[in-house]
Amino acid sequence: MDELPIQSGDDVVRVRQQVRAAAAENGLSLVDQTKLVTAASELARNTLVHGGGGAARIEVVKSPSGRAGVKLYFTDEGPGIADIDLALTDGWTSGTGLGLGLSGARRLVDEFELNSKPGAGTSVVVVKWSR
Ligand SMILES: Nc1ncnc2c1ncn2[C@@H]1O[C@H](COP(=O)(O)OP(=O)(O)OP(=O)(O)O)[C@@H](O)[C@H]1O
Ligand SMILES: [Mg+2]
Repeated sequence: MDELPIQSGDDVVRVRQQVRAAAAENGLSLVDQTKLVTAASELARNTLVHGGGGAARIEVVKSPSGRAGVKLYFTDEGPGIADIDLALTDGWTSGTGLGLGLSGARRLVDEFELNSKPGAGTSVVVVKWSR
């Protein structure tokens, strides 16, 4: 699927809708759809608020055993994250949020990878498998 821009709150809503549709079409349970949409929402919001905008990509993937999954990429070219472990700590925020977005998103998906460097932007890739 194409890249979805994340430059506004409306874009975040569109990302949520597209993630929901992809998850439903690929056999994720209602609970797993909601978990993935919640994670996507937090990651898209971080892309917008902390990354200064960026993009999301939605891919359908297959495991070696033939299970379907939905893979999401969130990328921005914002300031990046100096201390990734700290950023992933429950309750840590550099701003005025609750600091639960990243840590919560990680718990809601099956695979989670965060790459970031100060000055070089941030990318987060997550996968949720149908079971
Ligand atoms: N895309 C990003 N670019 C730069 N920094 C980021 C990015 N995503 C997260 N961070 C950093 O990681 C911290 C933790 O992110 P997290 O989503 O957990 O909390 P938050 O966004 O501050 O608050 P909440 O999501 O609970 O409203 C952020 O405060 C921010 O400093
Ligand atoms: Mg957040």
